Amino acid sequence: MTGAFLPVVNREHKVSITQQIFLAMRGAISSGALEKGSRVSSWQDLSVQLGVSRGTVKRAYDLLKDQGLIVTKGRGGTWVAAEVSEVSTESGPSARTPRGLFYDFEEVPQYFQLGVPAQDQFPSKAWHGAWRTAIATESARPQIYPDPRGLSSLRREVAGYLATARGLSCHPSQVFITSGFAGALGIVLGAMDFRGCKAFVEDPGFPRTRYALQQAGVETIAAPVDHEGVMLPFNESEARLAVITPGQQAPLGMTLSDARRAEVLNWANAANAWIIEDDYAGELQLSGRASPALAADDRFGRVFHIGSFSKTLNPGLRLGFLVVPPALTDLFGTFVGHLAPAGSVVAQQAVQNFMAGGHFYRHLRRMKTLYARRKMLLVESLRRELHPGVRCEFEGALSVRLFFPHSIDDVAVAVEAQKAGLGVLPLSPWFQSRPHGKGLLLGISNVRDRTVREKCQALSRVMASHTYG
Ligand SMILES: Cc1ncc(COP(=O)(O)O)c(C=O)c1O
Repeated sequence: MTGAFLPVVNREHKVSITQQIFLAMRGAISSGALEKGSRVSSWQDLSVQLGVSRGTVKRAYDLLKDQGLIVTKGRGGTWVAAEVSEVSTESGPSARTPRGLFYDFEEVPQYFQLGVPAQDQFPSKAWHGAWRTAIATESARPQIYPDPRGLSSLRREVAGYLATARGLSCHPSQVFITSGFAGALGIVLGAMDFRGCKAFVEDPGFPRTRYALQQAGVETIAAPVDHEGVMLPFNESEARLAVITPGQQAPLGMTLSDARRAEVLNWANAANAWIIEDDYAGELQLSGRASPALAADDRFGRVFHIGSFSKTLNPGLRLGFLVVPPALTDLFGTFVGHLAPAGSVVAQQAVQNFMAGGHFYRHLRRMKTLYARRKMLLVESLRRELHPGVRCEFEGALSVRLFFPHSIDDVAVAVEAQKAGLGVLPLSPWFQSRPHGKGLLLGISNVRDRTVREKCQALSRVMASHTYG
């Protein structure tokens, strides 16, 4: 064999041997164990070495060829392609991580990873109790279809929480339990039939929202953000929708000012348009009291309010909630009944138990204090360890933002940092319009005293090789 790399195959495995060879070689190319431009065994030789049929190896090689990972030169042998594209080395058609999702689903969270709660401070005892009771309740219930809008007890609980914590008074019939923010967004886009419409999105803004809208056939119009939050370009008279993060702008963290809140609501009313409020962080505002939900000021019935348990409890729950204007409850009830019924009743019941027991509120209060402390710890450490030329912003949001000059490739910096186990995200994919701002987003929820210095030093080394060397 020309290359020293020999894939390991396991005949007991559920995955076919062809697929195992393909995945092993793709992984080796991706990690550099098989270098670009290096020679590999012919499929005939490899079949002998592995003791498997030639056809099995040939099929794996064909898959690798289809992805441009290897090239065959007839009698000249088989070679790892000299130019291997990033996407194809990272993942094949069946395994490719959806665009806009930045982390590996199977991994434990990396240091600085965004969008995950603190992993070490979860009230596990109360949580287990909530689940135990939920399982007992559900096992005793008849096996019938549940309300597709969500368990009525949870919808009542959410309505109570929104009134207390987000200043939003709504009737439980306006509340729909969803598969997180993403599920709620899909419901609004489908029920309101926004396909073919134009929508304002924040620029910079959450990439998943932009991709979701585009996926649903909605054209996105970039709305710039300044220190008061989003500025809707009102001259764009055709927009029928705006998707915004008024509580804490994602990713920059500012709260939408009172003047802008009024402007946005008046625009929706005058233009017969709609607003989707992504309240992803809810009450988790680290300094002062969180401003009330935008929907709380909605006199015109134009705001869809979406909350998520992803940041407050666990993204693995896939639970969130959607509050629709009172006039639309029937329309949405019919829509979710047919196309997007709420998920597992056990999970819903467990969350309801957890909330009803007061644990959710207690947990949120503790997390606010913890995250504020972790953020300051990180900022102090970054100030000590990073080049003084790096602009660091930390007001608002559950992140710290580092800004780079335009000449720096922030995606390359983030990829290298991720290889070093640092879950930073590049800022540029959050921009729709050009030139993209450049920088990094650092999550704060899992920053620890013991390790923060070492991690900031590691980040500084990665940045130094790209930027401030
Ligand atoms: C801006 C924004 N919206 C929504 C979410 C939550 O999405 P989901 O509820 O689908 O997990 C996140 C989580 O990272 C977010 O950053």
